[in-house]
Amino acid sequence: MILMKDIIDDNDVRIREVSKEVTLPLSEQDATMLKDMHQFLVNSQDEQISEKYQLRPAVGIAAIQLGVPKRMCAIHILDWDEDGNVISSTDYALVNPKVVAYTPKKSYLKDGEGCLSVNDPHEGYVPRHAKITVEAYDLLSDKNIKITARGFEAICIQHEMDHFDGILFYDRINKQAPLKPIENAIIL
Ligand code: NI
Repeated sequence: MILMKDIIDDNDVRIREVSKEVTLPLSEQDATMLKDMHQFLVNSQDEQISEKYQLRPAVGIAAIQLGVPKRMCAIHILDWDEDGNVISSTDYALVNPKVVAYTPKKSYLKDGEGCLSVNDPHEGYVPRHAKITVEAYDLLSDKNIKITARGFEAICIQHEMDHFDGILFYDRINKQAPLKPIENAIIL
């Protein structure tokens, strides 16, 4: 089981490493790690488990955050109704994902982004493509998949894929004007 102590932060130089493509079919070791990464996200959003193990709630994690420079990431996004019931979830365990198309239109989160590997607050808008198409092998479905993602999901996937190239969300914040509205962008 992955715990917070297993996750490296941005004081660790490895977080800036460029991750390598992963050989498919996955080795047992890679498959186990990727499944554990996805399970960590599920645990982190479970009230009781996250409290018991002091997990920071997260919607995405990349292998380099465990110090492993491989192009693998997991996503777990829940959607709730007004009464707080989960109505749907978006789950991936992606290997070698590639953005094959994107819209020029941007989007950003009005509250900015966060990251399991970033402990200090970094205020500011992080511009992302509003819509992306990604091709990858997905371990959860055991298929090569094509994802068309918009909104929050598209932002999460781009955030995780940035980790493959050693990029952190605050690298993309306009340092001179972190809260300057981004033109022609969708605010989420
Ligand atoms: Ni992150």
